[in-house]
Amino acid sequence: MRRIAIASEKGGVGKTTTAVSLAAGLALQGQRVLLVDVDPQGSATRWIGNIVRPDLSDALQGRHEWNRVIHPSVVPNLDLIPASPHLEDAGRTSTPQLERLRRGLEALTTPYDTIVFDCPPGSGALLTMALTAAHEIFVTSEPTPLALAGIRGIIRVGGRIRADLNCDLHLARIVFCRVQSRRKLSQMAFDTTNASFPHLPPAHIIRENVRLAEAPKAKQPIQLFAPKSHGAQDYGQLVRAVLREGQMREAGSRTDTDGTSAAAYPPAIGAPTRPVA
Ligand SMILES: Nc1ncnc2c1ncn2[C@@H]1O[C@H](COP(=O)(O)OP(=O)(O)OP(=O)(O)O)[C@@H](O)[C@H]1O
Ligand SMILES: [Mg+2]
Repeated sequence: MRRIAIASEKGGVGKTTTAVSLAAGLALQGQRVLLVDVDPQGSATRWIGNIVRPDLSDALQGRHEWNRVIHPSVVPNLDLIPASPHLEDAGRTSTPQLERLRRGLEALTTPYDTIVFDCPPGSGALLTMALTAAHEIFVTSEPTPLALAGIRGIIRVGGRIRADLNCDLHLARIVFCRVQSRRKLSQMAFDTTNASFPHLPPAHIIRENVRLAEAPKAKQPIQLFAPKSHGAQDYGQLVRAVLREGQMREAGSRTDTDGTSAAAYPPAIGAPTRPVA
């Protein structure tokens, strides 16, 4: 089972859009997927489900059993653990409880292929909880000159969690959201980032697309709301890359077809200064 956290300390940089689009895309390709909304804002919950109890806060605080906080979403094969503002309280927590999410998910009876976490902005206990339960971080960013600093921020947070709580955690992909391809700045941010993280697959590009901004109101993932849109195409590429990677891991292959190698799974979370041979 893959566990992918969509994270960034910065707010409003496409985490929820990426979490929902990736989770729905994998589910529509036949995977059994669970989306865990770890953000008290509940944006992912409202997009593909409803803010209902019992939710993640009820499981974290021991009021309900983990299997009971899973709800169906509007997408076939995609289940949801919803969030609500009550999650704020569950986030004020001590170290042993930081592992509660991981332990709860490990005890689930449904055999999910992939669990996707929609992380909150900032670097509080809820982000720590999600990264303690995840294996891979997909960091989202907007392609500005500050992108690199933001990516390094999540690497620092992840590095601490890897050292203290979760030795399986690693940065796996960078996703640039809201890219206006004609702007030179985007290309510069893209080139600088790829050069700084040579052990990762090249950053994914999700173009600015109004249909992505409209999809939450329609309560549909982009793949169903506007299947021909740039948003659906761009997230389709991300979904295919993730599926391909999963198949290669299962087959024991060490070479990624998008031109990267097994070095995308480096021994440490951060970026080595040069590619791993
Ligand atoms: N590629 C895109 N094109 C157009 N609009 C987008 C795109 N990606 C995200 N948006 C819009 O940008 C806003 C922020 O996106 P999103 O909610 O996914 O970010 P976030 O990182 O989850 O925010 P937060 O930190 O508040 O949780 C939303 O209104 C969303 O609809
Ligand atoms: Mg969000």
